[in-house]
Amino acid sequence: MPAQGARSHGVDPALKKILVLNGPNLNLLGSREPAVYGSATLADVEALCLDTAARLGVAVECRQSNHEGLLIDWIHEAGAAQRAGQLLGVVLNAGAYTHTSLALHDAIKGTGLAVIEVHISNVHAREAFRHRSFLSPAAAGVVVGFGVDGYRLAIEGLVRRAGAQP
Ligand code: DQA
Repeated sequence: MPAQGARSHGVDPALKKILVLNGPNLNLLGSREPAVYGSATLADVEALCLDTAARLGVAVECRQSNHEGLLIDWIHEAGAAQRAGQLLGVVLNAGAYTHTSLALHDAIKGTGLAVIEVHISNVHAREAFRHRSFLSPAAAGVVVGFGVDGYRLAIEGLVRRAGAQP
């Protein structure tokens, strides 16, 4: 039981960390197709994640890579950290790998990692090749079409999800 007056979100303090992973081309946010993705840069997104995490009393680490194998390595690392009780889960915007990567699907399934899949744009209102996600069947949740605010929603969802667990 937390001490009287202590703020608790129902989350085990040992588990209070979230990893935010951004995949290919998300380093171009701000200049990349602003009509689709908006004007916020990746640095803005990472600042939003840090602010959200601080408000909720959790730690966050943000990483970005254009390389599928590195994203897979990070998911393996995160799976081990989650099993060790050090991580609540991962917020993942895998960019176009969402629509192509059976390997990312297998990595999420294989580690049992809690992943919230995020897309800035509403992929379902776009080209047909963006309608299929290899990640959604392995994800704990999906946030689509809320712009960069989706990262905030995903972090809040991961924290609530953890708090709801016994
Ligand atoms: C995206 C949507 C993907 O289809 C696209 O390849 C991206 C960004 C999004 O955040 O809306 O790179 O994941």
